[in-house]
Amino acid sequence: MAHNINNFLTPILATADFLEMTITDKSLKKNLDILSKSVERIASLVSNLLKYTKNYWMFEKEIKFYNFFEENRLYFNELTGNNIKFEIDDSCKDIMLNIDTALIAEAISNILSNANKAVAKKYDLNISDYKGSIIFRVTKINNDTLKISIIDNGVGMSKDVLAKAFEPFFTTEEMAHTQGLGLPCAKGIIESHKGRIEITSKEGEGTTVDIYLPIVKGGLDEKNV
Ligand SMILES: Nc1ncnc2c1ncn2[C@@H]1O[C@H](COP(=O)(O)OP(=O)(O)OP(=O)(O)O)[C@@H](O)[C@H]1O
Ligand SMILES: [Mg+2]
Repeated sequence: MAHNINNFLTPILATADFLEMTITDKSLKKNLDILSKSVERIASLVSNLLKYTKNYWMFEKEIKFYNFFEENRLYFNELTGNNIKFEIDDSCKDIMLNIDTALIAEAISNILSNANKAVAKKYDLNISDYKGSIIFRVTKINNDTLKISIIDNGVGMSKDVLAKAFEPFFTTEEMAHTQGLGLPCAKGIIESHKGRIEITSKEGEGTTVDIYLPIVKGGLDEKNV
């Protein structure tokens, strides 16, 4: 059903884009822009709902954790305005994962963008002794499991908010583009990879999101991956 919605949206968006290019009337152009943006929002909502409900194709491949990390380091830096510290334990660098790299990067980016918002609410970036911090810590729990922790010292969550954080459409944000699907999507994606995700948080002090992913044993020749 949701896939069908996306199929219907594609020609609407293409037509709006075509008209926007051919029409010169300014007010008509503005209306077409509103139309395109609304369709894009519906498409993003549908795509996030599909991730929450684990309705998607996964393109998994075996990859060294460190290669995945290097591919995404810049992206994670950008998402947090370079306010992120990477702490990767040496024992994790050669670990092999079987993941859809785009989906896992998306799950992490949802969590990082929450951390970024939480820190920005507590600390003023323009102050010289800025204390906002986001840590991306990776450790090997045992031979079976890799743990990625995203730790922020932002506003934290009340017990009520924490209890609802993974509920679809739950949000405390008031911005128009907010969907309340960041954490539910991340959960859907991590669980599709046979992992799990946990949150601990203290109001006023900060939040830690822990992602646990299974390690591939006897993976491909590591040198070639
Ligand atoms: N690191 C965090 N610190 C404090 N509160 C958080 C944190 N992460 C999530 N939350 C709370 O959990 C709610 C749900 O998060 P979620 O990512 O699912 O939705 P959102 O960020 O509100 O919207 P969206 O991700 O769709 O833009 C947030 O509105 C916020 O109240
Ligand atoms: Mg979010």
